[in-house]
Amino acid sequence: LPDRGHLRPPGAPLTVIAHRGASSAAPENTLVADEVGRRGGAEYIENDVQPSKDGVPYVLHDSTVDRTTDGSGAVRELTSAQLDALDAGSWFGPAFAGNRVPTLAAQLGDLRERGGDMLLEIKGRHSRDEVATIVRIIREQRMTDRVFVQSFEPDALRYTRELAPELPLGLLRGTLDADPVAVARELGLTSYNPSDAALGARPGAVAELRDAGVAVMVWTVDSPDRWAALEEAGVDAVITNRPAELVGWNAAS
Ligand code: G3P
Ligand code: CA
Repeated sequence: LPDRGHLRPPGAPLTVIAHRGASSAAPENTLVADEVGRRGGAEYIENDVQPSKDGVPYVLHDSTVDRTTDGSGAVRELTSAQLDALDAGSWFGPAFAGNRVPTLAAQLGDLRERGGDMLLEIKGRHSRDEVATIVRIIREQRMTDRVFVQSFEPDALRYTRELAPELPLGLLRGTLDADPVAVARELGLTSYNPSDAALGARPGAVAELRDAGVAVMVWTVDSPDRWAALEEAGVDAVITNRPAELVGWNAAS
């Protein structure tokens, strides 16, 4: 497998990925959360993407809008006009009232203007056509060299690879595969992205993957004790709700 520059050189700091933006400091997956993450020094901003009823990709984590907006209902059952009308900031605090659920196009356009790369999670099962729409938007926003795609869904990664072989791919896993290198080869992965708990069951998998040229990105880790353990284990990147703190920890350690 090719090393596309995502393997951490010896002694280099952990790559910092802001989970749903700087989601400990601002309402997750909004433009402001991404900007806080970027200003805090994160190399990547992680955002979740799923389509509206009329097929427009929006940046939102849950399958419903209930927890993070003033509306209710399944994202896939709401039109883009209905999603555009929602307030996605007030639930986090009154200072964030008026923030919207961004479209993928708006979120990518904002990153292109301000700086910052996206770790784009294709959230939930997607059809090939739905993945094609995501790829089209990445290209229209001229962000193909600044987007890294990840998903729990192998088919979403297979479709992405067919449609846009230039995009690096990461597979999210909540439990470790018996042979993660074989899975990485089958899917053409640039990275294997286990939960911290999953990796804890067999930390030696980090060396197996890296020896095969596959980077390891671990989620979602907010404590300095675990950052130290993961750095020691040799992982490449950490996905965290506290990106500015991890940037500071990198600098101090
Ligand atoms: O980036 C990894 C992490 O985002 C996966 O879990 O539920 O936060 O999307 P979740
Ligand atoms: Ca995610």
